[in-house]
Amino acid sequence: MTHPPEADALQPAIWPASAHRVDGVVHVGGASVDALVAEHGTPLMLLDEDELRGRARRIRAAFSAVLDDPIVYYAGKALLTADVARWVTAEGLGVDVCSAGELALVRAAGVDLARVGYHGSNKSEAELRVAVAAGVGTIVVDSELELERLTRVAAEAGVRQGMRLRINVGVHASTHEFLATSHEDQKFGVRIDDAPTLVARIRADDVLELRGLHTHIGSQIFDGAGFAAAFDRMVALHASLLPGGALPELNVGGGFGIAYTEADDPQPIEQIAASFAEALRSACAREGIAMPRVAIEPGRSIAGPAGVTVYRVGTIKRMELADGERVYVSVDGGMSDNPRHVLYGAQYTARVVGRSSDAEAVRARVVGLHCESGDIVVDEVRLPGDVAPGDLLAVPATGAYCASLASNYNMTPRPPIVAVADGASRVLVRRETIDDLLARDAGLGGTA
Ligand code: LLP
Repeated sequence: MTHPPEADALQPAIWPASAHRVDGVVHVGGASVDALVAEHGTPLMLLDEDELRGRARRIRAAFSAVLDDPIVYYAGKALLTADVARWVTAEGLGVDVCSAGELALVRAAGVDLARVGYHGSNKSEAELRVAVAAGVGTIVVDSELELERLTRVAAEAGVRQGMRLRINVGVHASTHEFLATSHEDQKFGVRIDDAPTLVARIRADDVLELRGLHTHIGSQIFDGAGFAAAFDRMVALHASLLPGGALPELNVGGGFGIAYTEADDPQPIEQIAASFAEALRSACAREGIAMPRVAIEPGRSIAGPAGVTVYRVGTIKRMELADGERVYVSVDGGMSDNPRHVLYGAQYTARVVGRSSDAEAVRARVVGLHCESGDIVVDEVRLPGDVAPGDLLAVPATGAYCASLASNYNMTPRPPIVAVADGASRVLVRRETIDDLLARDAGLGGTA
């Protein structure tokens, strides 16, 4: 294969819409990566504000066009900073949080907690007490034990707490095993068969306000069949519970897939929204019930394509393999800032972004600085053959589940998250320092 354009092109489905080259140098959000790196260093996680906000807006508009007043939560687990929470709420979304830390963050960011949904498969009574006292709008109850805990906590607080019941619908979504969350052999939700008894108990106690059922079948899903099967079962369950009392809402979770490489071809969100609406509508018609108000919780499809991680190339090694040469390009980050290849075999692409090149493309693998051979960021990518130490190399589609999954493996500080918009940059989360890491070690006089 030759170059250009293959090894230089910024594929539009994968990069933020603002990404383009000016004299060879990639710009994101109107700012050149050269200038951004000069100011913020590498590795650097860039977040294109317009891309993220535009995606939030577009998803909300797409679902609002086909459903009556849908509730759209942003799934904060994908990427959560105070400004990200403010951006999505300014776009009319609520926020779904799944831990005490995420709840504390949105609370500190000033998000209206009435618009927050609180997930988690093992919330403690103390955590539930904090959430109820703070006025969290909806708590998604994940188990019978949690139902008992929440009933106790709400009764003590004298609060009629809004809640949903998470159902394991027994659908195996077509995605990586670790990303499928609603087949029988996994930890989330209550068994579909147990739901009627639990709902009857909620109604009899009359302490909690049951807003509706919830399910989330998994993440990075392209195939609508799993969603449709889940909707059929959820709507049947929903219909069977209506004679016993009101169930105004139905939350069907998130999970819309995005493009990481050219092999991925996600449907436009408008099409997904239309098929969701159609599947729900026909399931409701079959059951002879009115459509409940629908809630969704996308995360990846909002934050993912807005993120670009910029690294500095350090070392290059050329390996002669049985099937040809592979160039190992080592960058100054790795599995500590993006563990998705290691965890899920996730595929990414990469580009040299500080210059363009017309060198012949080579088969390359982008690896990190960590002490593991599995420390791979991009397993297989064609890069210009003259890629060299000192080059800036960027990996697109890293906005979701990279910073939020990052670690300090090998005592590696985590990169900053820097927003770019209209040619200007702003630090959302500062770079971690080695001093930050040493500060926790009580043996060094840190906080015990
Ligand atoms: N709602 C619930 C209840 C969820 O558990 C999740 C994701 C979402 C919504 C948002 O799903 P999304 O729209 O982002 O697909 N670390 C993995 C992904 C884990 C997803 C966990 N739950 C990854 O890097 O692919």
